[in-house]
Amino acid sequence: MYRVTKAIPTSTDGDISTCFVRFAAAVAACLLLLHLSMSPSFDYSTYHDLFLSLSSNDTAAHHLRELTRRPHVAGSEANAATASYIFNTLSSASIPVHIVPYDVLLSYPIHRSLSLSSDPSSPAVSFNLSQEIYPGDPFADVAMEVLPTFHAYAHSGTASGPVVYANYGSEEDFATLRAAGVEVAGKVVLARYGFVYRGDIVRNAQLAGAAAAVLYCDARDCGGRNGSWFPEARWMPPSGVQVGSVYRGAGDPTTPGWASVGGCERIGAEEVVESGLMPAIPSLPISAKDGKLILTTLGGPWAAEDWQGGEGAPLYRLGPGPGVVNLTYMGNETIMTIKNVIAVIEGKEEPDRYVLIGNHHDAWTFGAVDPNSGTAAFLEVAQRLEKLQKMGWRPRRTIVLCSWDAEEYHLLGSTEWVEDNREVLRSRAVAYLNMDYAVSGRGFHAYSTPQLDNLLKEAAHKVQDPDNSTQTLYESWVASEFPLIRRLGGGGSDFAAFVQHVGIPSVDIRFARDYPVYHSMYDDFVWMQKFGDPLFHRHAAAASLLGLVALRLADEVFLPFDYVSYALELQRSTGVLERQLRGKPVTFTPLHKSIEELTKAASKIAYHRKVLQSNSWLPKWRKDESKARELNDRMMMTERAFTHAEGLLERPWFKHLIYGPSQHNVYLSKTFPGIDDAIQRVKVSNSLEAWRLVQKEIWKVARAITQASHVLNGELS
Ligand SMILES: *[C@@H]1O[C@H](CO)[C@@H](O)[C@H](O)[C@H]1NC(C)=O
Ligand SMILES: *[C@@H]1O[C@H](CO)[C@@H](O)[C@H](O)[C@H]1NC(C)=O
Ligand SMILES: *[C@@H]1O[C@H](CO)[C@@H](O)[C@H](O)[C@H]1NC(C)=O
Ligand SMILES: *[C@@H]1O[C@H](CO)[C@@H](O)[C@H](O)[C@H]1NC(C)=O
Ligand SMILES: *[C@@H]1O[C@H](CO)[C@@H](O)[C@H](O)[C@H]1NC(C)=O
Ligand SMILES: *[C@@H]1O[C@H](CO)[C@@H](O)[C@H](O)[C@H]1NC(C)=O
Repeated sequence: MYRVTKAIPTSTDGDISTCFVRFAAAVAACLLLLHLSMSPSFDYSTYHDLFLSLSSNDTAAHHLRELTRRPHVAGSEANAATASYIFNTLSSASIPVHIVPYDVLLSYPIHRSLSLSSDPSSPAVSFNLSQEIYPGDPFADVAMEVLPTFHAYAHSGTASGPVVYANYGSEEDFATLRAAGVEVAGKVVLARYGFVYRGDIVRNAQLAGAAAAVLYCDARDCGGRNGSWFPEARWMPPSGVQVGSVYRGAGDPTTPGWASVGGCERIGAEEVVESGLMPAIPSLPISAKDGKLILTTLGGPWAAEDWQGGEGAPLYRLGPGPGVVNLTYMGNETIMTIKNVIAVIEGKEEPDRYVLIGNHHDAWTFGAVDPNSGTAAFLEVAQRLEKLQKMGWRPRRTIVLCSWDAEEYHLLGSTEWVEDNREVLRSRAVAYLNMDYAVSGRGFHAYSTPQLDNLLKEAAHKVQDPDNSTQTLYESWVASEFPLIRRLGGGGSDFAAFVQHVGIPSVDIRFARDYPVYHSMYDDFVWMQKFGDPLFHRHAAAASLLGLVALRLADEVFLPFDYVSYALELQRSTGVLERQLRGKPVTFTPLHKSIEELTKAASKIAYHRKVLQSNSWLPKWRKDESKARELNDRMMMTERAFTHAEGLLERPWFKHLIYGPSQHNVYLSKTFPGIDDAIQRVKVSNSLEAWRLVQKEIWKVARAITQASHVLNGELS
C-alpha cells in the first residue's frame, strides 16, 4: 500500500545498460563457478559474490508479466491464483513451502453514487465514477475485474451537503479552515491525497463534524502535466482514481492483538467504529477530473497559495458551497480466508535463528508497481538462493521467505502472522527485511532500524547502480538529495508488526520516483515497462541488495549489527526534540543519561566482538561457538528491549517506544511516538499537568534504553 513518495525529483530517466555489463557479469559468474567447483571448502563470502553475479533482469520481467495479467485484490479467485503462482515458483526452486491461512474481515463495494449541483437550486449531475480504458490497453478484456473505486471499510450511508475544500486533509489544514471561519460541520469535505494517510484524512473530517469526505489526487501531485498522461507519459489520466483502505488500526479489525484463526474471539465492527479506527462517515475516492469539477462550484474565501493547484489550474476557494454534493456508499464487510505463502530454508548451524524476507502479493488492481515489482524481485532472490544451494551453500541461520496477503486492507496478512507467532519471533527472529513495491522509477530509498544502517551501506557498495554501470549503487545513493536512511515508524507496509509490535531489527528498500498511478487501474505492466523500469535492471538491483543483506545476516558468524550507530541516532533525535521544546518545563537529562549508557555498552560489545573475531582462526575458539552465539543473542534481543509490554498510551498494540506512526498520520514515522503523543496533548491544553505527562513519557523511553544497555552488556546488576 506504500504511499507515493512526494517531492521526488523529475529528472529524466537514463537507462544505461550495456552489453558489456552483461558480458562481464557472465564472465564473473563463470569464474566463480569454476572457483567453487575446484576449491574443497570456501568461505560464505564466495557464495555471496556468486549470488550477486546471478543477477538477471529477465527473471524479474518474466515474473512481473505473469503476476500482473489480472487484477488480484485480496479475497478474490485471481489472488488465490497469485498465491499459487508464488507457491509453485518457490517449490520448484526446491524450497519447502506452506500456506498459512487466516480468516479476516475484508471489505468490498456494493453500491456507490455521487452527484453535484452547482448550487442548492440547480439540478444535480451524476458522476459515472469509472476509470477509462486507455488507447491500446492490452488488459482491456479484464478491466471489468478491477473493483469499482472505493475505500475499504468506508462507512455505508448517504450524505449530502455543501462542499468545503480542505487541502491535504491534515489536522493543520482543518485548523486553518477553523481560523478562516469556514464551517465544516455538516458539510462534505473535499480533500486531496498527497501527505496524509487516507484513513486519517477521513478521521480528521469526521472529527471536524463533516457529513462525508471525497478524496482526489490533484493534477499538481498526480500530473497530467502538459496535458499528457499515461500511456503517453507517466502521469495519471484524468479519470484515474487512487483506491485504498481507510482503516487506521493494524491487522484484522475484528482481532486486535491476536491471530485471526478459525473459531477465535472476535469483536464487532461497531466496536471498531467506536474506537475511532474505522470511519463513522461515508467517503469515496474520486478522479482528478471530478475533483476539479467540484472545486469550480465553490465560493467563499480564496485558498492560500500552498492550497492551490498546479500550473494552469483555476484558483481554488474554500467554500462552503454553493456547490452541493450528494454521496452514497454501500459496502460489504465480510469474513474471508486470506493466504500467506511461507517458505523456509533451514539453517545448518543455527536453525532456530530466523532471517525473514517479506513482500505482499495482493494488489488493488494489476499491481505492476505495488506490490508485484517487489514480488518479482522476491522470487528472483529465491531462485538465486536455489542456485547457491545447488552449489553446496546452506545458510548458517534459517531464511524465511514470506509472501503476505491482504496488505492493502491495512497489513492484514503480516500482522496476523506476527501476532500468531509473536513469542517465537520474540525469542528467535534476527531481522525482518521488507520490500513492498521494489520499483516505481529511478532513485534508491532505504529505511531501517539504526543497527542495520552500516550493513545497508556496505551492501550498496557491492551492488552496481542499475542506472549507471560505471558506479556502485552506494555512489548514486549518496549523491541523491534525500536523507540517506529513514526510519520505520510509519505504518505504510508489512514491517509495521515486526518493528512496532515485537521489536525486530528491520529494513525496507525500494527504487522510487513519481508514482502518480498509485492504487489506480493504470498500475499495470505497460506502465512499468514504459516508465517504471524499462529494462528491469532496477528490479534486479533490488533483489541483489535485499538478498545480500539477508545472506550476510544469515551466514556471518557474528551478526553485522552496529549499536554505536543506534546510540548516535538516538542522540541526534533527542537533540532535535530538545531544541523543539527549549524553555518548556521538561528535562531531557534522563534520556541523555540512558543514551550515554547505551553508547558505552555498544562500544564494549563492538570491542568484544573484535577480540573474538581476531581469535577466530584459533582452533580452540572454533570449538567454542557458544561465545559467538551468546554475543549475537544479546545484539538480537537489544531491539526487543525498546518495546514496552503495555505499549503506547491509548495505542496498546504499538509497543515500540523509539519508532511508531504519528497518531494523526499513519504515513509519518515518529521517533519517540509516546513522547510525541504527549506533546500533541499539550497542544490541546497547555497545562502543567500536560507537561508532566510529557516528562513521564521521557522517563519511560529512558528506562527502555537503559534496559537495552543491560541486554547489550549481558550482565546482572
Ligand atoms: C463516463 O464518462 C465519460 C465521459 O465523461 C465517458 O467517456 C465514459 O464512457 C463514461 N463511462 C461509463 C461507464 O459510462
Ligand atoms: C511538456 O512539453 C514540452 C514540449 O512538448 C516538453 O519539452 C516538456 O518536456 C514537457 N514537460 C513535461 C513535464 O512533460
Ligand atoms: C441523495 O441521493 C439519493 C440517491 O442517490 C437520494 O435518495 C437522496 O434523496 C439524495 N439526497 C439529497 C439531499 O438530494
Ligand atoms: C458480501 O460478500 C460475500 C462474500 O463475497 C457474499 O457471499 C455476499 O453475498 C455479499 N453480500 C452482499 C450483500 O453483496
Ligand atoms: C555515471 O557515473 C559516473 C561516475 O560516478 C559519473 O561521472 C557520470 O556522470 C554518471 N553518468 C550519468 C549518465 O549519470
Ligand atoms: C535486460 O537487459 C538487457 C540489456 O542490459 C536488455 O537488452 C534486455 O531487453 C533486458 N530484458 C528485459 C526483459 O527488459
